[in-house]
Amino acid sequence: MECFEVTGGTALTGRVRVTGAKNSALKLMAAALLAAGRTTIDEVPDILDVALMSEVLRRLGCDVTYERLPDSGGGGRVVVDVPEEPSAETDYDLVRRMRASISVLGPLVARCGSARVALPGGDAIGSRGLDMHISGLERLGATIESEHGFLVATAPRLTGTSIWLDFPSVGATENLVMAAVLADGVTVVDNAAREPEIVDLCAMLSAMGAQIEGAGTSTIVVEGVPTLKPVTCTTVPDRIVAGTWAIGAVMTRGDVVIERAVADHLTVALAKLADAGAHVEPLPEGLRVAMDGRPRCVDVVTLPYPGFPTDLQPMAVALAAVSTGTALITENVFEGRFMFANELVRLGASVRIDGHHAVVRGRERLSSAPVVATDIRAGAGLVLAGLVSDGVTEVQDVHHVDRGYPDFVEQLRGLGAHVERVRRSD
Ligand code: UD1
Repeated sequence: MECFEVTGGTALTGRVRVTGAKNSALKLMAAALLAAGRTTIDEVPDILDVALMSEVLRRLGCDVTYERLPDSGGGGRVVVDVPEEPSAETDYDLVRRMRASISVLGPLVARCGSARVALPGGDAIGSRGLDMHISGLERLGATIESEHGFLVATAPRLTGTSIWLDFPSVGATENLVMAAVLADGVTVVDNAAREPEIVDLCAMLSAMGAQIEGAGTSTIVVEGVPTLKPVTCTTVPDRIVAGTWAIGAVMTRGDVVIERAVADHLTVALAKLADAGAHVEPLPEGLRVAMDGRPRCVDVVTLPYPGFPTDLQPMAVALAAVSTGTALITENVFEGRFMFANELVRLGASVRIDGHHAVVRGRERLSSAPVVATDIRAGAGLVLAGLVSDGVTEVQDVHHVDRGYPDFVEQLRGLGAHVERVRRSD
């Protein structure tokens, strides 16, 4: 078992480079399936989930290589060589370990006319349904059955249609757009997700020859084309990793330049940090966030983009835990996402949960203890909390953090933090 030992008391200062977004890179890799031949994707983070997605693609018959690039903040180049006829089955052992494997469903149905993808089941942040993925693909003409733990989709041909999503689901929007690009006719996806990662995916698909309008708005219009070609593209910078550094700078009262951070992708989060008293300065090379003194409590409400990202909610709770005053944090996207707050309470935080609200009363400092990372972002939030705790905080189950943050320990140390990765035998 690997854990992080975090010694509190040091401000994060210096420069850190952000590579591409996990949540985009995984979908760009899945989108490669839409064209036979070699697709090259740059700024792909060197994280466990990318290794898992590479394995998903290999089992579908692709040849996948990863080459890490020096001084990239943990990024590299992925080359996916896709055969003329990929196989169409993704096993439970991979889907169970990484839910984003489900994003091969749309491309496989579009490209092969059928797909068998294991059902992911629940995870630590909620039940995470697939109803919108399924009903959208059915509207495009696919037949979908659930058999022995697999979703089995069949569609000799997909036909353009109009689809209204009940909620702007990121994964459903992506799967449906990836299916629609090779369908006959025009598909309109309404109440689509607007995340920068959706815009990134649509940019790649357009470069491959797809006809897409409205990416980044609530209405995406796709006119199907018969075939697509492989491309070379670059992953959008990771706004969640950038936001983690920004909140870390404020919590530790530090001063950090986050290279490649895109301030426009973090508008609400940065406004909250400014309200907390931080100095937030967009720079040509990224973003500077500095804090002098103790932050003020700010209320946060998570919402689909452009709202405050649910993936930064654990860090927002950790920030409130050491701010002056009381904050109300509201989670609107994942019902189970406050589970990690009990770990924060072990560090002496005052957090009270009522349904999808958390009331956080700020303390001057937290107090170190062993805690468990329950998911990627909870783990990062606990590490930040450890940085403002007295003594040494042991964050366990850090394989979760490794799924989303390339070189996390090295980057923290580069900013002056005292963090070690240690292996425990029990
Ligand atoms: C993606 C991100 C995740 C981020 C989330 C919201 C990846 C790999 N993960 O997850 O980090 O927190 O967007 O920004 O990109 N839902 C349904 N039925 C569906 C689809 C979704 O009920 O068919 C629900 C989910 O349970 C959840 C909400 O909708 O409560 C949002 O989910 P969604 O936007 O789809 O998130 P993901 O794509 O899973």
